[in-house]
Amino acid sequence: MFVVVGVTGGIAAYKTVHLVRALVTNGHEVHVVPTADALRFVGTTTWEAVSRNPVTTSVHDDVAQVRHVALGTSADLVVIAPATANTLARMAAGIADDLLGVTLLATTAPVVVAPAMHTAMWEHAATQANIATLRARGVHIVGPADGPLTGGDSGPGRMVEPDEIVAAALQVAAGVVAGGVVRSTDTDASDRADLDGVRLAVSTGGTREPIDPVRYLGNRSSGRQGAALALAAAERGAEVALVAAHVDDGVLDAAVNHPRITLVRAGSAAELETAMTDAAATADVVAMVAAVADYRVASPSAEKLRKEDGIPRLDLVENPDILAGLVARRRAGQTIVGFAAETASSDEELLERGRRKRARKGVDLLAVNAVGEGIGFESADNRVLLLGADDALVADVAGAKREVADAVWDAVVALRAGT
Ligand code: CTP
Repeated sequence: MFVVVGVTGGIAAYKTVHLVRALVTNGHEVHVVPTADALRFVGTTTWEAVSRNPVTTSVHDDVAQVRHVALGTSADLVVIAPATANTLARMAAGIADDLLGVTLLATTAPVVVAPAMHTAMWEHAATQANIATLRARGVHIVGPADGPLTGGDSGPGRMVEPDEIVAAALQVAAGVVAGGVVRSTDTDASDRADLDGVRLAVSTGGTREPIDPVRYLGNRSSGRQGAALALAAAERGAEVALVAAHVDDGVLDAAVNHPRITLVRAGSAAELETAMTDAAATADVVAMVAAVADYRVASPSAEKLRKEDGIPRLDLVENPDILAGLVARRRAGQTIVGFAAETASSDEELLERGRRKRARKGVDLLAVNAVGEGIGFESADNRVLLLGADDALVADVAGAKREVADAVWDAVVALRAGT
């Protein structure tokens, strides 16, 4: 995607370096257009290095290429971060006395704006009127977040974190979000009923493969992401069969109390396979979130293994690939979502592994989950790259597992609507 990132004169400009980097890492062609004021915070050299493209601010540079129009017309997406109160006013008025202003008038691409300013400026009637004007024109406003501000005050006005802006912008560009509204900050997804009457089969948790009556081979999956998916879907109107292997304490509490969620428990991969095959037989959408053990002990001991019998040898055999089986038996019109937990040293590697796995599994969507220290397993937050059937990156979501869940369902809804 050709992305124009407009940077305006606020201290949060330093965070936009991370935003540009994340977009470049995801394979996008990024052109940074700073205002003259923005360059007082972060200079041209940094923007050029991080975007890997030349940076100009004036409409008089590169005139032969008609750069002031070319940037706007080439853009698939425009992100303004940070957007100062002054920038919002200029955008609302259509002022075009610098390259960013001209680009904004020349573009028909979706525009995502992340405001950053002092609370008093944000709450001022002039700023609020400008925001309303921009929203009415279909501009997507992300944030601002509430929290400590430069100068020691606290309140709404902080720029939303770069990862969240990237996730929101990618959703906007993918058409997952309707004009003027960005899910994570502007609307409560639970108000929607876009999964009304849709039947879902969702698996979660980690399987436990018995060694003997008291021991097992297991993994560190907490079951939180699958439980969040089930709950989010039920709140959006779906009828959910939630097949749960081992999960952490309390993880299923909210789900079991929801009238549209039916809970089925499974221990081993074999049990999970039976339960998911049953649930999938009548489901419109299947999501395999469970961490399934790839191997099981060939012949678990009926008796507890004892030390006096010596060090045990565990012969392992491969478990069936449940997801592959579900894809092979897919009902007409059924949408299948897989999850892949990956460790990778870079986003490129994560995407590459994800794309290979999506093709191998034959799923409509693969949610690629970076696991490692403090992220993924056993943590409340998650980061997920959503890959579509044509290997497109549909969304890059970082946040609470509930936010990731809603982003997955947004993508499923869009896919099933053919958009
Ligand atoms: N899965 C499955 N049955 C298995 C293993 C995995 O249904 N025996 C499903 C998972 O629920 C997930 C997807 O396949 O939706 C990817 O799981 P993952 O463990 O990332 O992939 P594997 O196929 O096990 O590949 P590898 O471990 O080599 O990365």
